[in-house]
Amino acid sequence: MPVQIVDGVGIHYLETGGGAPTLCLIHGAGGNTLSWIRQLEGLADAARVVALDLPGHGESEGDGCRRIEDYARVVGGFISAAGLGRVVLGGHSMGGGIAQTVALEHPELLAGLVLVGTGARLRVLRRIFELLASDYAEGCAFVNAIGFGAAASQALKDGARVAMLGTRPEVTIGDFAACDAFDVMDRVGTIRLPALAICGEEDQLTPPKYAEFLAQKIPGARLLLVEKAGHFVQLEQPEIVNAGIREFLRYPFPPHPPQLGCPSPLLLSLEGRGRVRGEDKGEGGG
Ligand code: COA
Repeated sequence: MPVQIVDGVGIHYLETGGGAPTLCLIHGAGGNTLSWIRQLEGLADAARVVALDLPGHGESEGDGCRRIEDYARVVGGFISAAGLGRVVLGGHSMGGGIAQTVALEHPELLAGLVLVGTGARLRVLRRIFELLASDYAEGCAFVNAIGFGAAASQALKDGARVAMLGTRPEVTIGDFAACDAFDVMDRVGTIRLPALAICGEEDQLTPPKYAEFLAQKIPGARLLLVEKAGHFVQLEQPEIVNAGIREFLRYPFPPHPPQLGCPSPLLLSLEGRGRVRGEDKGEGGG
């Protein structure tokens, strides 16, 4: 079982593929590396793909954090300790908040950003906190019920629910508290990295409006809205998501971060399966 020690804590990760740049993936609240199973499988021929379990999650040691900044420090430490070089950092939901924070605090660690089902602010419904605290299984079931699009199979939903049930309640509650306090709406426009925002059109937890905001604010960022998918878009429509990330990874990531976002357009050809915006975006800096 591959483990990297970060600040004395064993951080478990899964790895596939090879080649540069490394795509490093961070799961969401109460989740684990398996949130990225379809990307670990499906992108192995395109890049070295590394998905980690945050502290207190999956097979990693330690306790969860209650602040996105603290998770970002762990992720930055992991990238450095594992000698991954400049990574394309991908994050789902809370993981996307962590990825934005690493981009803001330590851009020198990154070549690019893939922001999946996430936003620059991640307020959380009171009902989620109430249910997780009163009946954890009920809370997991509720998140699961609103987390998937109408086309998702029961097996897929069950898998995500079981993953969250396997995370200690205090860790998942801490994750949602970290999300609730997260807000970089005013700062995200200062990110100067190639970025791709991906969102399911049926996402109720981080609606498309959040991804549109990210794509508008981060100069040169691209937006992929995916039909027939909810919040767990990377599991629900892996072929479309992987095609988008694969195209993004073809970008000639420079050894140093660009000063003005992506200088050249990324051509995503996903017509009929997802909606791509931003090919001619020169506006949107903020
Ligand atoms: N990107 C762009 N806009 C955002 C945003 C983001 N990440 N987060 C919030 N906003 C917008 C909202 O759309 C809203 O705009 P409006 O006034 O034009 O309607 C405004 O900012 C304020 O929204 P918010 O900070 O979310 O406060 P709220 O009191 O309106 O709503 C919730 C609180 C919890 C009901 C709401 O955030 C929500 O439904 N969240 C999604 C469900 C959830 O729990 N997700 C978990 C994420 S981990």
